[in-house]
Amino acid sequence: MAFSVVVLAAGKGTRMKSSLPKVLHKVGGVPMVQRIINTVESMQASAVHLVYGHGGDQLQSTVSADNLNWCLQSEQLGTGHAVQQAADHVKDDEDVLILVGDAPLITQQTLQRLVAVKAACDLALLTVDLDDPTGMGRIVRGSDGNITAIVEHKDATEEQHRIKEINTGMMMMNGADLKRWLGNLSNDNAQGEYYLTDVIAMAAAEGKKIQAAQPDEVIEVEGVNNREHLAKLERALQKWQASALMHGGATLADPARVDIRGKVTTGQDVFIDVNAVFEGTVELGNNVVIGPNCLLKDCKIGDDVTIEANSMIEQAQVDSACTVGPYARLRPGAVMHKGAKVGNFVEMKKTVLGEGAKANHLTYLGDAVVGARANIGAGTITCNYDGVNKSKTVIGTNAFVGSNSSLVAPVEIGDGATVGAGSTITGDVDNDALAVARGRQRNIANWPRPQKK
Ligand code: UD1
Ligand code: CA
Repeated sequence: MAFSVVVLAAGKGTRMKSSLPKVLHKVGGVPMVQRIINTVESMQASAVHLVYGHGGDQLQSTVSADNLNWCLQSEQLGTGHAVQQAADHVKDDEDVLILVGDAPLITQQTLQRLVAVKAACDLALLTVDLDDPTGMGRIVRGSDGNITAIVEHKDATEEQHRIKEINTGMMMMNGADLKRWLGNLSNDNAQGEYYLTDVIAMAAAEGKKIQAAQPDEVIEVEGVNNREHLAKLERALQKWQASALMHGGATLADPARVDIRGKVTTGQDVFIDVNAVFEGTVELGNNVVIGPNCLLKDCKIGDDVTIEANSMIEQAQVDSACTVGPYARLRPGAVMHKGAKVGNFVEMKKTVLGEGAKANHLTYLGDAVVGARANIGAGTITCNYDGVNKSKTVIGTNAFVGSNSSLVAPVEIGDGATVGAGSTITGDVDNDALAVARGRQRNIANWPRPQKK
């Protein structure tokens, strides 16, 4: 059955002590509310109504989704009032899944369970049992075990305070029912708020069948109120992700020291040493070895590649059997073809390194095309920027560039050409030619050293 989603995200999150609205704080590199929207989008909801209040501009410039409907709640008068802001967009004959914007680890599996429970009753609640339920809304059940109400902590009796089953804030019901019940809410309670949770007693009074579903793990329904909670959820997410990597065929030197802020896919027999950080979308082939302290962002790494310690790779492509680092930096547009090698303190930007080509030490290659099997000596710099424009350097197949050379772009070094060490090359070099562009050495015999006066 078709259903739409309401995400409550208007709260300010005062305890975050932040200029950013709470729901924009990131977990696993993705803003909390975006993570929730991504989770429900893959369940094919017909629409997502996002109830927002604080930081509207920041939210609107950050959050994106198909079928996203922005509902402003200009004053935060309670969760019931928040849902009212979306109610006009809810169809009578569809179900509505209500979620909270600050519980980002809710899984699709758990939500599917809630959807399945709703399919067999009138109102489905996601609940959990907590050892310490302080502060939460309690699930009140009659002597027959049926749910009759949710009572907020501040409104609960001492006896109700002993109930361990709590409301996670996530629930699902029919659209027409929801709208009818919302119309009857009052704010006559301990907090002077319009509680969404009051609809439960209304449903029970109408004889509706109310049932509960539970998440696989409590962490899925935990909300973030401060940065300590945020860190707790981040660690939980990282643990799940590390576990998925290992089940996918990667060995992790320490599963607690890998951070994935985005999505990583791996081939088999990948080894990832400690303190790897992955951002965006990263693809690792088979037999990839990643040394300690590497940062990989939006990149594709082929089979049998070794990335040595302390390397950074961003928006780059590394084909099979390449070696990178230690201490290498591949910036956007860096491409290494099969078997190429980039060593320590080498930086590449918008540069293609041909098959088997090498730049082993202390080099900057920017806006360059390097042919297959070329050798770039230590300390080579492509001078690609004149202060205004960027120009291109082309280095041919099998070329040999001697150490400490400056290649002043635009310039072309031919196939098989050689550049003498220490040259400043300002003009093209023909195929198979030798270019030497440096001061000629002069020796003065028996030169008397200056004496101290
Ligand atoms: C709410 C529930 C409580 C439940 C708890 C779970 C109510 C009355 N109480 O309490 O039963 O155990 O969540 O965390 O529903 N929000 C708005 N506009 C508002 C108020 C809240 O958008 O006017 C949003 C918040 O941004 C947040 C969510 O609704 O994402 C929950 O609000 P919060 O203030 O955390 O509710 P609790 O008092 O914790
Ligand atoms: Ca809360």
